[in-house]
Amino acid sequence: MEKKVMNDTFLRACRKEATDYTPVWYMRQAGRYQPEYRKIREQYSFFEVNENPEVCAEVTRLPVEQLGVDAAILFADIMTPLKPIGVDVEIRSGVGPVIANPIESVSDVKRLLDLQPDKHVPMILEAIKLLREQLEVPLIGFAGAPFTLASYMIEGGPSKHYHKTKAFMYAQPAAWQALMDKLGEMTITYLHAQIEAGASAVQVFDSWVGALNQEDYERHIAPVMESIFSSLQKTDAPTIYFGVGAGHLLSNWNQLPVDVLGLDWRTSITEARQLGVEKALQGNLDPSLLLASWDQLEGKAKEIVDEGRKKPGHIFNLGHGVFPDADVDTLRRLTDMVHQYSRK
Ligand code: CP3
Repeated sequence: MEKKVMNDTFLRACRKEATDYTPVWYMRQAGRYQPEYRKIREQYSFFEVNENPEVCAEVTRLPVEQLGVDAAILFADIMTPLKPIGVDVEIRSGVGPVIANPIESVSDVKRLLDLQPDKHVPMILEAIKLLREQLEVPLIGFAGAPFTLASYMIEGGPSKHYHKTKAFMYAQPAAWQALMDKLGEMTITYLHAQIEAGASAVQVFDSWVGALNQEDYERHIAPVMESIFSSLQKTDAPTIYFGVGAGHLLSNWNQLPVDVLGLDWRTSITEARQLGVEKALQGNLDPSLLLASWDQLEGKAKEIVDEGRKKPGHIFNLGHGVFPDADVDTLRRLTDMVHQYSRK
């Protein structure tokens, strides 16, 4: 087979190197807005897609082919590695992860197994190996961050205010520490295995950590994030850290040994840089604009590209995932527009 030429624009931007244009990918670029995805999901449950490397690779490639994005993201969920270590989780469409055996005490934490990637997630590693052969763009591996994973494990499902999670953190500090240690180790092991299998970069999703204030983040979360990113520094793969509604934590994030910070739409690229962030930045179009007029979408996207281009190290993305009611053609047009506009 002819060796494929790798489009490395995304990786160059992660490393703050000059690029010919602004690279683009979208969180949740594989999902229900795609008719082809919906069709596959009629046949396979979410975790069955994960269990079948050919299908997993197909779903991962679909947005690269349809949208022309500069990176693929492995199709899996942040809950994928939790299932084999003893978390009874299912993904309910329109709801999210639901857990039958929520964590209540330190003995529940102790019951969780240590992740052994070859034994517990062999199909994921197999899908990554296939994708490494098939893709002409870098593959992003990913994991959920300890706080965000813990929120599902403690609440038993999605939550608005994370009361149970925070109460657990305050009231059972030793159990919380044990849980952070366990999930931190799991994340390190899982991401190293993904990189060894062929992922070129990794993103850590801390979607819900914005529920904490700076002081609690520093005390209860920063140490585990520090250990995750320090460990990943030993690899060549750039690292990305993302959360929603976490602008107030940017100065804390900025101290972590991570390469790229992912912004939601509440904090602009200019504001992040004014706060002293010199890391590469990823984001941050409000995904709601995908449902507005093209003129509104284009205007805001160009503004973001202009802000990003002022320094090397910007990756265009949404501020959070694509909604199921977004349109494939709009995302394709947006990708092409960002590529063309940023070349000028
Ligand atoms: O294309 C991609 O981005 C890669 C695949 C991916 C999924 N989930 C697929 C998925 C990734 C990177 C995730 C991460 C994830 N999962 C996060 C972090 C990112 C974020 O959105 O903040 C979180 C918090 C989860 C937990 C989760 N899993 C939620 C909130 C949901 C959606 C619930 C819904 O139905 O709207 C899921 C399910 C899920 N994960 C879907 C997909 C495509 C929908 C599954 C379906 O019904 O077919």
